[in-house]
Amino acid sequence: MKVAILGVGTVGSEVANILIKNKDIILARAGVSIEPVIGLVRDTSKKRGVQIPLSSDARSIIERDDIDVFVELMGGVEKPYEVVSEILKRKKAVVTANKALLAYHRYKLQALAGDTPFGFEASVAGGIPIIKTLREGLSANRIEKIIGIVNGTSNFILTNMMQKNEKFEDALKRAQELGYAEADPSFDIGGFDAAHKLLILASIAYGVHGDPEDILIEGIEEITQEDIYFAREFDFIIKLLAVAKRACDNKVELRVHPALISKDQMLSKVDGVMNGVSIYGDCVGESMYYGPGAGGSATASAVISDLIDIARDNKNPMLGYKILPSENFMQILPSEQIRTKYYFRLRVRDEKGVLAKLTNIMSLNDLSIDSFLQKPKLKTDEEVTLFFTTHTCCEKDIKRAISVISGENFITQKPFMIRIES
Ligand code: NAP
Ligand code: HSE
Repeated sequence: MKVAILGVGTVGSEVANILIKNKDIILARAGVSIEPVIGLVRDTSKKRGVQIPLSSDARSIIERDDIDVFVELMGGVEKPYEVVSEILKRKKAVVTANKALLAYHRYKLQALAGDTPFGFEASVAGGIPIIKTLREGLSANRIEKIIGIVNGTSNFILTNMMQKNEKFEDALKRAQELGYAEADPSFDIGGFDAAHKLLILASIAYGVHGDPEDILIEGIEEITQEDIYFAREFDFIIKLLAVAKRACDNKVELRVHPALISKDQMLSKVDGVMNGVSIYGDCVGESMYYGPGAGGSATASAVISDLIDIARDNKNPMLGYKILPSENFMQILPSEQIRTKYYFRLRVRDEKGVLAKLTNIMSLNDLSIDSFLQKPKLKTDEEVTLFFTTHTCCEKDIKRAISVISGENFITQKPFMIRIES
């Protein structure tokens, strides 16, 4: 089976090298040899440590009749969509690790692919075989909930901030050097990459349509050492979570945001570049999956598993349904209806009556306070940091309360809120 690798960067170069390094075991498992024959790059003069010929001419590769499978590892959305669509129209198989492409175009690609194999195991949670798990292993279940840490870069940053007091920027730089981050790392730290992955999982679990713009997405950029101080005081760990939860009336709650989770939860132990996904099925109960979420070699492992599936002629419906769910199969719950617990950090002038005004605003907006902490202030400081957590309440109430609080003249910094996932 001849393979073209469209994009020979962090992941593509590992795919090329592992196909050569492990060719005996891959041949034994696939039943045919899987041979990388050409790679597409922008800059053919760059050293990449691969033994395949490289070209910057996409058309000349796409039009080759001798290629059986095209592996798309370029990144981006519209350019790969154009390239992959053309390949599928030629009835050639595609494998991709590109979650951004799938977050926007998965249903159109599924329709275009028809019976042509289309593998995307590497698009979610790097080396963890989570697509196969959800689509095949758990196919008997109604999925109640998926809760996961699915972005390696942000988990690496948060872990290093919490465990080593490392600065956000330094941890991000290291994640980039290690090949974990997206070409534009704001996708990682802004929560968008995790949202792309969540939409892919939710399509398999619930048949959900929708784009990233339709769901709640918040990143980790505004988390400070003060939030980490609070988390330590109250035995929480801060993680960027992706949550899909079945709500009432055929609605599903989809959200990506940093969350405080209890130290006792298994997900709190998922550190560094590792990812962890818990899936709750109505028959199986909770099952949890753990493994490296980013990096060239781990991701290439998932890409090659798709190539082996294609060589074996394994056929699974791309998004898990033989009979496609209708447009209304499951709808996304409007984010203002989400209900959870909240933590917020307020920087205020240290004056008489501030606490009374704050608790009054919270009460008027239907918020019930669960805990409160005032960080002891430096003698010279005229400001103080207050931390609150609430009992379960509604997103629209907390947003309204924060908007009122922001307008008070004793507030000296934009209020910051993190959800608590219990
Ligand atoms: P990368 O290191 O930036 O590599 C991208 C490759 O694609 C480079 O070789 C680049 O060529 C080539 N390329 C990009 N646009 C091109 C164009 N228009 N024409 C020709 N070649 C083009 O990216 P990566 O980290 O390997 O990621 C690849 C894909 O896998 C992305 O969709 C990413 O989201 C996904 N992914 C990555 C990881 C990870 O851990 N890195 C994990 C899971 C999924 P030049 O080198 O010449 O610029
Ligand atoms: N940038 C992504 C991450 C790569 O850090 O998780 C894996 O999808």
